[in-house]
Amino acid sequence: MQQINNKSLLSFMVTAADNAVAVTNPATGELVGHAPISSEPELMDAIERANVAQKEWAKVPAKSRAVLLNRWYQLILENKDDLARIMTVEQGKPLAEAAGEVLYGASFIEWFAEEAKRTYGDSIPGPTADKRLVTIKQPIGVACAITPWNFPIAMITRKAGPALAAGCSFVVKPSDSTPLCAFAIVELAYQAGIPKDALQVVLGESSRQIGAIFTSHPLIRKLSFTGSTQVGSVLMQQAAKDIKRTSMELGGNAPFIVFDDADIDAAVQGAMASKFRNAGQTCVCANRFYVHSKVYDEFVTKFDAAVQQLKVGNGLDEGVNIGPVISESAKQGIQALIDRAIEQGAVPVSALKQLDGLFMQPVILKEVQHSMDIVQEEIFGPVAPVIRFETDEELIDMANDTIYGLASYFYSQNIHRVWKVAEALEYGMVGINEGIISTELAPFGGVKQSGIGREGAKQGIDEYMDVKYLCFGGN
Ligand code: SIN
Repeated sequence: MQQINNKSLLSFMVTAADNAVAVTNPATGELVGHAPISSEPELMDAIERANVAQKEWAKVPAKSRAVLLNRWYQLILENKDDLARIMTVEQGKPLAEAAGEVLYGASFIEWFAEEAKRTYGDSIPGPTADKRLVTIKQPIGVACAITPWNFPIAMITRKAGPALAAGCSFVVKPSDSTPLCAFAIVELAYQAGIPKDALQVVLGESSRQIGAIFTSHPLIRKLSFTGSTQVGSVLMQQAAKDIKRTSMELGGNAPFIVFDDADIDAAVQGAMASKFRNAGQTCVCANRFYVHSKVYDEFVTKFDAAVQQLKVGNGLDEGVNIGPVISESAKQGIQALIDRAIEQGAVPVSALKQLDGLFMQPVILKEVQHSMDIVQEEIFGPVAPVIRFETDEELIDMANDTIYGLASYFYSQNIHRVWKVAEALEYGMVGINEGIISTELAPFGGVKQSGIGREGAKQGIDEYMDVKYLCFGGN
């Protein structure tokens, strides 16, 4: 990490020790550094300190909290290049994409700095002449989060921003694969003046241990999790025992639909952006493509031509669009889905190439059937299975035939169809003639087994606040 200018971003790093997570670069396999692990007593202490800090933080006027959050936002912008480099080295995404994530992550801090000042209650007409009814919003208390490796900065700021803005304290456990980004971004918050106990990063002996503590510790009031549906379900069951609030941003199986009245070139552009962002490793990546039979061949040909332009490699190298996948087990899982699809009758559009290390050649599979495993499962890799459809009715049935309901996308130029399909899709988010939908301005979240709660937008801060109803009698 010689090229990091602001050394304070990595001041938390420890030299190899028993109590440390070793971080390796997925592009090269080289050791990047070690991040400290907290012992169980240290974790308990962290939560107790967060509880004390929360009481003080909640007393800081919303306008002053906003000032500190805005300072944090500015420091993230000032350190954008260093943060992007740390991200590329520990997570693998290309440098330009990493810089994009830093800005995306920063946008949540900017947005929630503003929202801190707008946590309005209501005045409600009373049921009788002598009663006055009012609601106020108050911070939940200590909030904690478990965040993933695929967006190692943005998934933290999307939760820490609203939590701190609301007056909660916040303890986050990042992925063991990408802790450097987490410690670095929080270091900037401290430099901005956010109290150290009000915002903490912790790593534990295992994710299971942290999950158990975060869902059972009596001082923790809220858990926000981004990750798989399977783990989310376990955490919700654990949190249910003490009725803790949870927000869950879980798996997806996004359909990307191209109708016969679509602008095919625009659809190809959207497909490239949606499918290959972060090498296909996002919960909102298009997972399966449904293309009307009249435009199927044209779409597949143009899509493949665009895919052949993608450059796979180390994200630090100029011109690379697709970095490595995160781990050997991830690579094997994606490869197994491709192999099974081909056994089941799918056809690769261009010759398949096996790449070394954790790199994977992006691939389009045609003649895919809706029933194939590759359509039913979340791929989380650079593979695009394309299915043919004939009627809108059949299409809607297939698109909704999943336990998931996070993102969906479709391309059509017929306004009547646009409204009908947008309303019929059982998803929390719908991109219409658009492949990139994520922004701090809009509510991000899913339905069905894709999760509960919304992040970003005006809704995001409510996840960290309780509504209290005040009834003034005898007036
Ligand atoms: C995710 O994959 O979990 C988040 C993607 C996004 O925010 O766009």
